[in-house]
Amino acid sequence: MAEQQIKRPRGTTDYYGEQEKLFLALDSILKAEAKAYGTTPCELPMFEENRLFHRSVGEGSDIVLKETFDLVKKGDKDFTLRPEFTASVSRMVIENKLYNSPDMPLRISYLGPVFRYERPQTGRLRQFYQFGAEFIDTKIDLASTLDAFLFALTAAEKALGHKVIAKINFLGSLESRENYKAALKAFFAPHVDSMCDDCKRRFEVNPLRILDCKVQEDQEICKDAPKIKDYLSEEDQKEYQNILKALDDIGVSYEVDDSLVRGLDYYTGLVFELYDSINTTLGAIGGGGKYASLMRQIGGPDMEGIGFSLGMERLLLALTEQRKQELLQEESLDYFLIDFARDGFGSYVASKLREKGYSVTFSSYSRALGGAFKMADRLKAKNALIIEQDHRIQKKDMLTRNQIEVSLDSLLKEEHHA
Ligand code: HAM
Repeated sequence: MAEQQIKRPRGTTDYYGEQEKLFLALDSILKAEAKAYGTTPCELPMFEENRLFHRSVGEGSDIVLKETFDLVKKGDKDFTLRPEFTASVSRMVIENKLYNSPDMPLRISYLGPVFRYERPQTGRLRQFYQFGAEFIDTKIDLASTLDAFLFALTAAEKALGHKVIAKINFLGSLESRENYKAALKAFFAPHVDSMCDDCKRRFEVNPLRILDCKVQEDQEICKDAPKIKDYLSEEDQKEYQNILKALDDIGVSYEVDDSLVRGLDYYTGLVFELYDSINTTLGAIGGGGKYASLMRQIGGPDMEGIGFSLGMERLLLALTEQRKQELLQEESLDYFLIDFARDGFGSYVASKLREKGYSVTFSSYSRALGGAFKMADRLKAKNALIIEQDHRIQKKDMLTRNQIEVSLDSLLKEEHHA
């Protein structure tokens, strides 16, 4: 009897072929943007001590309650696959004493897989990739706030090639938040019995998250709930007004969304989420905000951070057909060699072209000319080079289908735009 086929785990992705090319195209756009914003990249462990996320994220957060991918205990410590980067970056900053750097703010960027034990559906995976950045300083000033927000916005827009919608809110200090939570609890108390099971749980652990509920009847109730802006301290209000004014002054468009509370518990100030302007049913393509107590909560100094993460899979889902073609074209192969000389001259031509930075691959000898052109098209090669037995070279532009005889010298002298 045949062995049962082994499938990839639910909520994971195999990246290969076109999807992998698109992933890499986004990867290079985002990393170029990370450079433009003066960040230094980092690579971090994919698993950490459980405590890092349980403490930092806050006991009331949904991530802690149901979403972490906990590893089977093998030693004396509990480990979990990282559900996000912010706590890991903060741990790295504390453990390596990067906070002692004279060069503040620290600006750290990352791209890698994160893991959440969620019910998989379109755009909601158990292993997905995040690109993002964290700015860390003794106090996050207006410049860092604006830069972190603009970085998130421009990175998403450059990746997608079109506008994204930014929603923002301000959650305030832990103290204002506690007052607000108490007000929400009082407001929801008479309604909670009729609300969904998630909301019943949120009511107990974190009533803020009720505002995030997607159930229509619950959303109706939320409409009359108290607003966080009425619970902000004077200092918070001033900070929020300064941010809004600066965004207006520099002409950045945003929408204020009073119900934006974010899924993680550590935010204490500006919070934001980015949504695609075309694919409006897709969830947030990115989110972030300021966190003033996280570093201290995980045993570090009293420092603040602001950052964001974009979901790579959500960005991929938000690419239009036209944008995909553009990205694939940019990443596409420069030369597809069809070698009839079959004496090594083709390899010489290929190596000279590669020295100039071109990408080059070969057709198999077993493929006839027509089949070779079809393969060149499938690979989206910009040009095919036919190497004749007498070493003459024909260059076929795969877009215009024009074919001309060329010399290797002239090919090497061409301006290279790759
Ligand atoms: P987050 O909102 O939990 O924030 O995740 C950021 C982005 O990751 C989301 O906007 C979404 O695009 C993507 N994402 C989240 N969950 C999934 C999923 N199950 N499947 C696919 N994509 C998903 C954070 O993780 C914070 N660490 C962001 C941050 C950085 N805040 C401050 N600094």
